[in-house]
Amino acid sequence: MTALRCTGLSRSFGALKAVDGVDLAVGTGARHALIGPNGAGKSTLFKLVSGTMRAHSGAVELAGRDVTGLSEVARCRLGMSQTMQHASLFGSMTAAETVALAAARHEGGRISPLPRRRPAVWTRAGELLAEVGLAERRDVPVPALSHGERKQLEVALALACRPSLLLLDEPAAGMSPAESARLVELLAGLPAEITVLFVEHDLDLVFSLADSVTVLHLGRVLLSGTPDEVRASEAVREAYLGAGRREELFTA
Ligand SMILES: Nc1ncnc2c1ncn2[C@@H]1O[C@H](COP(=O)(O)OP(=O)(O)O)[C@@H](O)[C@H]1O
Ligand SMILES: [Mg+2]
Repeated sequence: MTALRCTGLSRSFGALKAVDGVDLAVGTGARHALIGPNGAGKSTLFKLVSGTMRAHSGAVELAGRDVTGLSEVARCRLGMSQTMQHASLFGSMTAAETVALAAARHEGGRISPLPRRRPAVWTRAGELLAEVGLAERRDVPVPALSHGERKQLEVALALACRPSLLLLDEPAAGMSPAESARLVELLAGLPAEITVLFVEHDLDLVFSLADSVTVLHLGRVLLSGTPDEVRASEAVREAYLGAGRREELFTA
């Protein structure tokens, strides 16, 4: 079964073909990494998949269903959930309030004022915080969380809509080695039925977590394969060499 299939997906900005005829298949339950030099089109491809941005051509299928014409919200209802590369979280709320709000929104009903009288929502928020390793930090205001903890919180928010496909754009960006190790543990421990597609610069993290990898270069797919196939590829080596990233990929 294919969780996600992109066919001929394209998006230009003026003369720049940021995403240029991308075919991508992600199997159900996969931990699929999307890598490539800066400007390769990874974030744009993510936005086309999630529906944050419209494709100029091509199609997106979620578990066999064509969602190309659907909004981001409609795709989310069908099981697609994302964290953003530059996410903004609600300033003054606690971790638990933030997640409760997301859970309330997903379960339906009023979200304002906060759903204090809906115990199921608070129970769910507690479960989600525990799932991402933030159980002890539930009453901490979001601004007082560390950078790594905020990223964990973003994953909890993405899980609040009970996704079948989780999209993570650079989840480990700006994390310390300890924080990123915790994140790998968290992602590796997600239920197997949740398919994960993630963009990541840290190739140690990519190769420790991913079971399949797609390399984008200049908006096109350079290679899709196993982590070993990607490491062994001369074309991938060249693409990273051009971008001055060779060491990172091949000493990992
Ligand atoms: N909204 C936008 N308007 C104009 N150009 C953009 C926009 N978003 C991305 N680009 C350009 O598209 C290319 C791909 O960007 P992006 O998808 O962010 O790459 P990556 O995430 O792989 O670093 C880059 O050249 C970038 O400058
Ligand atoms: Mg990006």
